Amino acid sequence: MSDHITIDDAGPVRTVRMNRPDKKNALTGAMYGAMAAALTDANRSAGIRCVMLVGVPGAFSAGNDMAEFSQAAKSGEGLAPSVIDFLYALARSERPLVAAVQGLAVGVGTTMLLHCDYVIAGSDARFSTPFVNLGLVPEAASSLLAPRLMGHRRAFELLVMGRPLDAAAAQNCGLVNAVVPPGDVEAHALKAARDIAALPPEAVAASRRLMRGAPGEIVAQIDAEAIVFRQRLQSAEARTAFEAFLNRKR
Ligand code: COA
Repeated sequence: MSDHITIDDAGPVRTVRMNRPDKKNALTGAMYGAMAAALTDANRSAGIRCVMLVGVPGAFSAGNDMAEFSQAAKSGEGLAPSVIDFLYALARSERPLVAAVQGLAVGVGTTMLLHCDYVIAGSDARFSTPFVNLGLVPEAASSLLAPRLMGHRRAFELLVMGRPLDAAAAQNCGLVNAVVPPGDVEAHALKAARDIAALPPEAVAASRRLMRGAPGEIVAQIDAEAIVFRQRLQSAEARTAFEAFLNRKR
């Protein structure tokens, strides 16, 4: 478990909160593990009908912890097993996923949203995936899901060119459903989650399965990306980028 992830069940809605504000919700292996467990457990909990992913004011998530990326680069590892567990849990979630995004959504902070069914963003939200700038490649099946959602060219601009999307642009390309003032994000997301939870659950699950298809294709893309990601983590381009970030304030 991780102190930086809190799980709160209120009736049929489970809220999974990333809560590491001093590091802008950069995600550690322990945090991924706790989120994976919360999602997997929700599938087994008949009382939970919807899962909400939330961050803190100003930071949904700054993405994977850079110190852990740097460590993986040095030790020859790839994405940590708990990262893969979390990505699989997203792809295999049987509960509708609602996200409430305030502020920064970097890297996996953006790519996890591609697995969500309903996303509310604050007007302060900023979505970016600087994978290539870091010498890396997209993950979380974003190389499949982003072009499918927004078309190749917009996905290329986001995933390869690393150009951020503001809240309006994210809504325009279908990444978010609605944009509201930052202080209202969680209330709007909770209302959506409760609305979903109030629907007949078997019909929701069956409809969602029809819309999303079997998770096999997405899981296979997560695996394919992870192989290349591991190679890229060891690259000089990536190591240089990690050191530059970790040393930038010295
Ligand atoms: N990993 C580890 N620590 C991170 C982090 C990350 N991904 N993102 C932010 N932090 C830490 C910073 O090191 C800093 O810690 P410190 O106070 O101990 O020095 C703290 O969070 C606040 O970040 P800071 O950079 O001072 O805030 P900012 O508002 O100026 O910038 C970001 C915020 C997110 C734009 C910037 O921190 C950043 O670019 N982070 C890296 C994002 C990234 O590339 N993630 C991986 C994507 S694949």
